[in-house]
Amino acid sequence: MGQAANTVCVPFVDPASGRPLRRVDDRLEGDGASYPVADGIPRFVSVESYAAGFGLEWTIHSQTQLDSRTGRTVSRTRLERCLGMPVSETQGLRVLEVGCGAGRFTELLVEAGAIVHAVDLSRAIEVNRANVGAVDNYVAAQADLRRLPFPYESFDLVIGLGVFQHTPSPEESIEAAWRMVRPGGMLVLDHYTWTLSRLTKLDSLLRPIVKRLPPLTAKRFTDGVVAVFFPLHWHVRNNRWRIGGVPVLQMLLSRVSPMSWNYAVSPHMHRAYHCESSRLDTFDHLADRYKRLRTPRQIRSLLVRLGASDVTVQRDGNGVEARCRKPALPAS
Ligand SMILES: C[S@@+](CC[C@H](N)C(=O)[O-])C[C@H]1O[C@@H](n2cnc3c(N)ncnc32)[C@H](O)[C@@H]1O
Repeated sequence: MGQAANTVCVPFVDPASGRPLRRVDDRLEGDGASYPVADGIPRFVSVESYAAGFGLEWTIHSQTQLDSRTGRTVSRTRLERCLGMPVSETQGLRVLEVGCGAGRFTELLVEAGAIVHAVDLSRAIEVNRANVGAVDNYVAAQADLRRLPFPYESFDLVIGLGVFQHTPSPEESIEAAWRMVRPGGMLVLDHYTWTLSRLTKLDSLLRPIVKRLPPLTAKRFTDGVVAVFFPLHWHVRNNRWRIGGVPVLQMLLSRVSPMSWNYAVSPHMHRAYHCESSRLDTFDHLADRYKRLRTPRQIRSLLVRLGASDVTVQRDGNGVEARCRKPALPAS
């Protein structure tokens, strides 16, 4: 994608007015606005809002999905597929990552030398910062991606993976992210979509109840689900009984079990790893307040409507993966 001209971090602005802010002791201030900086992180929201469950999720499972911890390349593979290029090509680019969570992608972008601005609505931002550490090419902020604390059109690359489907209106959220892309820059995202297994799995009966529970209660409940179903999944994982090539026991169990089971992604990883992954993913998919689904066609239409060029949309990963470019300004 080429080296950005300027590798300095983008300055924070007041998300309400767009006016500049300056650091005064433990606050960012300007023109009547004042935001605290706590534990080194500017806080542009005072509550986690609907994302509190994610705050809990990433605090408990702070390193479960980090390639640097697992020794696997699951996150790198997904990131590079979505980017459409090796992550090393982000070196020197000003990158905004919205809904950064614990930092499975943040750590790879930072390591590649991108100038990363990581934003999350929940206290996951604290986990992100702890995982990445204090490095020059990284800043973190607790903020709502719909009211971002940066000037419009400041970033070479804006990326949101695993986040837009969890916001009340993915269209509004994607549009807010789009506003941050500089002319000639890129927007990269993914989104849940409709699949047959989503329609037929029984867990959709549980979710309306679990998502209304306080996060800690919901977590205890989903950990209980895993305690019951994980031994069954583990027991039949290599069962060879097949009909027409289909592993019948695994298939039947996955139809009725409300637990997330991603064994096929990393079959050589040990039992404890899979159990922890199931605890994380089961909470993630049963307790999320919003779970919006969009077709590839809907995502493409939205990006085209926003004025994007070079739109690439494919079915992959968690549903739909897309990237596009904001047209460059005509040379004057
Ligand atoms: C499923 S997690 C994905 C985290 C990370 N991108 C990953 O793939 O591991 C979704 C994240 O988006 C954050 N989030 C949800 N709504 C948000 C919003 N309006 N603004 C910023 N972050 C948001 C949540 O707090 C959570 O950390």
